[in-house]
Amino acid sequence: MKISQRVQRVEYSAIRKLTPVAKKAEENGKKIYHLNIGAPDIEVPDIYFESFKNVKKGALPYAPSEGIKELRNAVSKYYNDRNIKYSPEDIIITSGASEAILFAVEAVADYDDEIITTDPFYTNYNTVFQQLNVNIETFKTSPKDGFKIPDKETIEKSVTDKSVAILISNPTNPTGAMYSREELDRICEVAIENNLFIIADEVYREFIYDGNEFISFGELEGIEDRLILVDSISKRFAACGARIGSIASKNKEFMAAMDKLTTSRLAVATLEQIAASKLYEETDSYFKRVNEEYKSRRDTIYEELNKIPGVQVEKPKGAFYIMPTLPVKDSEDFAKWLLESFDIDGETLMVAPASGFFKNPEDGKNMVRLAFVLDNDKIKKCMRILREGLKEYNSRNE
Ligand SMILES: Cc1ncc(COP(=O)(O)O)c(C=O)c1O
Repeated sequence: MKISQRVQRVEYSAIRKLTPVAKKAEENGKKIYHLNIGAPDIEVPDIYFESFKNVKKGALPYAPSEGIKELRNAVSKYYNDRNIKYSPEDIIITSGASEAILFAVEAVADYDDEIITTDPFYTNYNTVFQQLNVNIETFKTSPKDGFKIPDKETIEKSVTDKSVAILISNPTNPTGAMYSREELDRICEVAIENNLFIIADEVYREFIYDGNEFISFGELEGIEDRLILVDSISKRFAACGARIGSIASKNKEFMAAMDKLTTSRLAVATLEQIAASKLYEETDSYFKRVNEEYKSRRDTIYEELNKIPGVQVEKPKGAFYIMPTLPVKDSEDFAKWLLESFDIDGETLMVAPASGFFKNPEDGKNMVRLAFVLDNDKIKKCMRILREGLKEYNSRNE
């Protein structure tokens, strides 16, 4: 017996790579602050839990493969309120955005085809590509200009005759960049001229700071047939554990492919879908309140990072991640050391080493990704651990 080459090729997600080390530290009595993973501590609106109380006891049948009507209607209304014209028939419910991305890549890319994305990119895109034998191509974005989308010529250099799609996270995990209309237009031009799908992952759409205006790929004209819009309630309603996402497209052939893939896994959890559809009744005041909380956290972590000698950092415009460069040679070694060998009063910090977010791991070797998903007091504690940790780690290595 053997495990397939396909799975052997899949790397551990960079976000969870150090989990066994953290577990061991916890077993040894350390308290760990988790800034390594984007799991928000914000409470899910009550309406979600209330809906479970009203469930009728009895049989629990499969939901339709494409998702329950109420939720597809709710997602459609949410989009239309934001000038994104998708009818319920254009929307399929998935087990989180993760399944939506897996299905989208599966549907558009054959063995050995290429998908283009930014560098750095959301690390789990690569685990999907590796599972499906799809190759990753990237165009670089740089902390020097806030990780902007580069000029058209640079994007085009990543296109080959094997390219089938451009996959973009906006606002971006891991950098916190949010793309302007001009940047989106550049992506669209390259996609149109090279006949590529655009897979737009907009799960952080609600998290935009400083009064910036978010523009969805779904609002743009001329790309309707090539756009695949990926979404989720994991971040929008802080409901990561619900595992509810969606995929939307006007491309009939693509949606027919989705039909096949979704029927092959039968259905998404019925009760979670009912509860998720209730979440979409939340009003703008909910989003405003949550947004203010994240903005305040963004400001705190940015200010605190700026106080640490040798740290370079860009202010995120959206999402809830920040990607500082640290005064270390190997951020994975440092992250491991923080868990294994450092604490302040029994407390330490878990960060995500940035290498796994880059096509060439060397590019992120002195960077980490931090998720500002804890409250301001905890973030301040974390930044003290980081500052003192860096001091001790570097004096130890001198
Ligand atoms: C950019 C991006 N896309 C997709 C996902 C997966 O979301 P879900 O929990 O809906 O599977 C994440 C999770 O962190 C993410 O950051």
